[in-house]
This record gives sequence, structure tokens and C-alpha cells, in this order.
Amino acid sequence: MANSTRPFLSLRGIRKTFAAAGGTTIALNGVDLEIERGSFVSVIGSSGCGKSTLLQIMAGLIEPTTGNVTIEGCKVDGPPRNVIYVFQQYTRSLFPWKTVERNVAFGLENREQLSKEAIAARTQEYISLVKLTGFERHYPWQLSGGMQQRVAIARALACRPDVLLMDEPFSAVDALTRVGLQELVRSLWRELGLTVVFVTHDVDEGVYLSTRVVALGRPPATVAVDLPIELPHPRDQIATRALPEYLDYRGRLLAQLFAEEGLAARGAA
Ligand SMILES: Nc1ncnc2c1ncn2[C@@H]1O[C@H](COP(=O)(O)OP(=O)(O)OP(=O)(O)O)[C@@H](O)[C@H]1O
Ligand SMILES: [Mg+2]
Repeated sequence: MANSTRPFLSLRGIRKTFAAAGGTTIALNGVDLEIERGSFVSVIGSSGCGKSTLLQIMAGLIEPTTGNVTIEGCKVDGPPRNVIYVFQQYTRSLFPWKTVERNVAFGLENREQLSKEAIAARTQEYISLVKLTGFERHYPWQLSGGMQQRVAIARALACRPDVLLMDEPFSAVDALTRVGLQELVRSLWRELGLTVVFVTHDVDEGVYLSTRVVALGRPPATVAVDLPIELPHPRDQIATRALPEYLDYRGRLLAQLFAEEGLAARGAA
């Protein structure tokens, strides 16, 4: 899927320390990653290992202590226009006093020089893409959790980013809604040619969705495992998850996480 040999999104020697009252925390201790255009990379790792920190550094929301991030060779030193970050907590990222339509239009009104008509047309296009046509005048609190997260995805994609960064975007929804959102994000990734970096706690989700899974090690984190996922596309929630290769990827990543946590593969009990 890569259309160039030059790395698209590149992280070199990323180190991040946080100074807090109790002392200094080393969150990331030298992370190197080259991400190809059009890939779907999941980042997994134990709680507190630095996944969100890494994603926020890619988004230009926080600065690394040392090291740098480049997109197509340009240094990231603030939020790049072609990169959008989707937060885990849709309840906090959507404006409760704005309708679905106003929430989706918000990003366009603030980022793009578009006429009112063009904003309205693009808003409608992305509401339809996430299958929320008919809910334009609803407020977030009148929608289910999965629908709210779809609004957040529509708002992000309406800006037509090249890179979509998602931090555990489905962790607050039930299992069936999660499957629906996984399919939505996969189909949008394929249709729109996005580059996605997706943080998840869930190894199965990471393997199913991705073309590559990166596991961060225990803090202070570096890349512990970097696994290309060579499963065929299109994928299927039942058939793909039954493939021996899928089970092999899953087993390798779980073994890594269990080892990090000091757990035996058959469980600690
Ligand atoms: N703003 C901050 N100030 C101080 N320490 C921070 C800050 N942000 C993160 N940290 C610390 O950096 C480390 C990594 O945090 P981070 O949120 O990136 O982990 P994570 O892998 O996303 O965890 P989780 O899976 O629980 O979301 C943690 O020790 C955390 O306490
Ligand atoms: Mg996190």
C-alpha cells in the first residue's frame, strides 16, 4: 500500500520525561518507528507504558524531550493540518450543546476556508459516511455511546486528514457496538486511503484491524515487538479470527504482554 520508499511518518529517538511533584517519570525511552503511508498500525502495551504519550507526540500536542517526529520529511512542531486525533472519551470531545450537524461542522469552520454551502455539503457527506443520516438535529446526549463515537469520527474525517490517530476509541462501548465501529474504521481506512495509528489495550482488536502491531515494553518504554500482520483483506470478524495465522499473531503478542506483566501464559491463578 506504500506509494513511496521514503517513510511517511517517522519517529526518531523519542524520549519523554515528565516532571511531577514526586520526581521525574520517564514515559518513553527512545522510541524509533517508521510508518508507511496507508498503513494501519496498532500500538499495544500495558497501562501506563506511554501509548497515549506517544500518540500525542505524533499529533504535535506535546513535545518530546528529545528526538523528533517528521511527516513526509517535515518536522512536527505543533498539530499538523493533515493529522487528526480522536480521543477515547467522546463524551468529553463532543460539545453537548451542539447538534450532530454542528459538532461535525465545527472542525471545518475552524480549520478550513470553505463557504457555508461547502461546509454544509461536506458535513452531510461525513454524517452519511458514518451512517447517521436522520440524526443531524440530535444532541450528543440523545445518542448511544457508539453513535456519539461515530459523530467524533465524522468530525475528524470531515477535515480530510491523511493521518488518523485514535487513542482507545472504542473502549467505552459494548462488545457488539465495538465490532460495528471496527468495521466502520476499517472500511473508511480502505476507502479513504488513510494512515491510521490506533492505540488499544485489546490484542485481538489490534491484530484484526491492522497491517502492523507495535507493542511497547514496560516503562520506561521502547518498542518491544514490531509485528507486520499479513492477513488477507477484506477481513471478516468470524473467518479472519479463526485463521491459524491470526491465532499465531495473537498468541505471540499476548505472550509478550504476559511476560511484561510477569504473568504465566496459562494465567496467574
Ligand atoms: N502530563 C503528565 N504529567 C506527568 N506524568 C504524565 C503525564 N502524562 C503521562 N504521564 C506519565 O507517563 C506515563 C505514561 O502515560 P500514558 O498516559 O502515556 O500511558 P498509557 O500507556 O496511555 O496508559 P493507559 O493504557 O492506562 O492509557 C505514566 O507513568 C503517566 O503517569
Ligand atoms: Mg492511554
